[in-house]
Amino acid sequence: MAEMTQSNTDALLAKALVDQGLATAADVEQCQALQREGGDADDISQQSLAALLVANGVVTQRQVDRIRPLVEEPKGGQQIPGYQILDRLGAGAMATVYRARQLSLDRLVAIKILPRKQTNNPQFVERFYAEGKAAAKLNHPNIVGALDVGKAGEFHYFVMEYVEGWTVYDDIVKKGAYSEADALRIIMQISNALDHAQKAGFIHRDVKPKNIMITSQGVAKLADMGLARAVSDREAAEAEAGKAYGTPYYISPEQIRGEKDVDFRADIYGLGATLYHMVTGQVPFDAPNPSAVMHKHLKAPLVPPDHINSRLSSGLCEIIEVCMAKNRDERYNTFAELTQDLEAVARGEPPLQARRKFDLASLASLEKSVDGQAIGHGGENQAGGVTTVIRDVPIVEQPMFWLALAGWALSIVLVVLVIVLAVR
Ligand SMILES: Nc1ncnc2c1ncn2[C@@H]1O[C@H](COP(=O)(O)OP(=O)(O)OP(=O)(O)O)[C@@H](O)[C@H]1O
Ligand SMILES: [Mg+2]
Repeated sequence: MAEMTQSNTDALLAKALVDQGLATAADVEQCQALQREGGDADDISQQSLAALLVANGVVTQRQVDRIRPLVEEPKGGQQIPGYQILDRLGAGAMATVYRARQLSLDRLVAIKILPRKQTNNPQFVERFYAEGKAAAKLNHPNIVGALDVGKAGEFHYFVMEYVEGWTVYDDIVKKGAYSEADALRIIMQISNALDHAQKAGFIHRDVKPKNIMITSQGVAKLADMGLARAVSDREAAEAEAGKAYGTPYYISPEQIRGEKDVDFRADIYGLGATLYHMVTGQVPFDAPNPSAVMHKHLKAPLVPPDHINSRLSSGLCEIIEVCMAKNRDERYNTFAELTQDLEAVARGEPPLQARRKFDLASLASLEKSVDGQAIGHGGENQAGGVTTVIRDVPIVEQPMFWLALAGWALSIVLVVLVIVLAVR
């Protein structure tokens, strides 16, 4: 790869800053114009775009320093022995992904190259290798295959199956919300992928629209399996600061609390949050900054998805709400159960597993009210400081209503009987 010129780096840096929501395209254009014109001061045209963006208060030096390693490409000819790097596919908060040719097998692969900053953290490197090697043992049509991990010069890299396609995130940005049927088709495939991963002892920890790739044949593939665990959830969430969409929008309450025993149910939450975004076009919890978003995951009741998109079936909404229960005991017990419900709703049938979960949650809240504790108003169930949405059930569909009615009817009959006998 040819060494990059300053203007090349400038262009990549500007794109990354805009992509990550740190600067607007208009801000960048304004500084580019300043750079071109040079103005009265000759030294302006000599300044890098990054320096101008900082000088004009568009971004901070810290933001530039965080993004720069993502756009600085490894220098020299062939950086990774055995692979020819072709072009750049994209960059996330942590790394840059390239399309490359694996020379031995003459096939296309995708290579994720980590920024040098990560290399200085031995704990990170250790986890990165352990998880990468373990992920390479997984083999599933809906999981982006992990092929290799290694180090070349100063760079650590992760080689994976190249997916010719786009991400669910790209689709949402371009076309808005998915139809219920299309979303179900994708989420069913990812639920199967996560079922396979769970059985092999994997937790993804970062299930989100950017990590679901779609091929032109409509196959959905979960990316970054084995990679997300290399960083702590908090670290990953904080790295997203300032981005339009990112980890804090899909992270489970237990990951936010930094619990040690996070299990596959965190992925059930992430998948539910992803499905929510897909069918409503909105993230489940939004706020001006990542910590406020995380606070909402912990405390705020979920706006039922059909309050945003009234065309959604109640079955689909029930599935999402069970996936996103704040208390993980109220979520699905396995991905197999979730898949069963997704398939039922796709056939136009009710989601039986979700209904069972709702009944259990209602029973638990009933028990609490019997114990003399306050129950949340407006369909909310306050349990251990976390709030779970319970869907409004019409009064005539509640068993307690019919029990009470039968009781009243029986007492009236008894009273009438007593009066008749007394009159005789
Ligand atoms: N296996 C792959 N095949 C083809 N393209 C890929 C592959 N993996 C990633 N990409 C592309 O590279 C981009 C960057 O991926 P990366 O995992 O670094 O970040 P991300 O998942 O988009 O965001 P984040 O850093 O928030 O996790 C993706 O959005 C996708 O477009
Ligand atoms: Mg990714």
